[in-house]
Amino acid sequence: MRSDAPILLFDSGVGGLTVLAELRKLLPQAPVIYAADNAGLPYGAKSEAEVAARVCGLLGRMAERWQPRLICIACNTASTIALAMVREVLEVPIVGTVPAIKPAAALTCTGVIGVLGTEATIRQGYLDRLEARFAADKRLLRHGAGDLVALAEAKLRGEPPPPAAIEAAIAGLLAQHGAKTLDTVVLACTHFPLLLPELAQAFGPSVRFVDGAEGIARRIAHLTEGHDFERTGPDRAVTTGPLAAWQMLAPALSRYGLKRLETF
Ligand code: DGL
Repeated sequence: MRSDAPILLFDSGVGGLTVLAELRKLLPQAPVIYAADNAGLPYGAKSEAEVAARVCGLLGRMAERWQPRLICIACNTASTIALAMVREVLEVPIVGTVPAIKPAAALTCTGVIGVLGTEATIRQGYLDRLEARFAADKRLLRHGAGDLVALAEAKLRGEPPPPAAIEAAIAGLLAQHGAKTLDTVVLACTHFPLLLPELAQAFGPSVRFVDGAEGIARRIAHLTEGHDFERTGPDRAVTTGPLAAWQMLAPALSRYGLKRLETF
């Protein structure tokens, strides 16, 4: 293993930065390539077949080009749909991002948990299995809030999200039977923690939020324990979309230590 072999973080857009932020705390010296499939954004509105084909195809080509020591699919939609498939075709260790149902079940006092994800994530059998395993005695209220993805992307470009747009995106959750006693919300899309202050405002003080970023970072640190890390240049942020749009995110990407912007 070369000491400059990167950890590859992959998402459809800027959502994976919430995982990168936690990873930096544990492995500040690790070389990272952050890859965003902006040409495919949003994954949440796509079919399972489309997401699986994109993710498997892109990660295969990226792994060949960069020889990463580990790949993190920092996207709930891609992970709940394609994690098993990607693991089957690639030799590299793959860490996925799955909805944080287990910690939410441990945290809730009322037993009512909201799950905010993309439309594609909330319909996955993967989520049914997590519910059966960790929250069978709880009540899970699922809601597809894909509109929050574009609001998070815009926020990182410097456009503050209008409170009414946040409220509209979560209204379908609050309208569900039992939502009055909701005390915990799982942010089951890596974009959503980027909107934490806005979501906290919209839900009010009785609701706590849980996401998987810290646990994923711990898993990556565990799997790379004992590795040598050497950064030979600035960390890269790579997009499958147009460079001009990517460059509008340069100030935000730079705050996460990503100083070199490229297209794939
Ligand atoms: N960040 C992705 C996730 O965690 C979703 C964004 C999208 O819809 O592309 O699910």
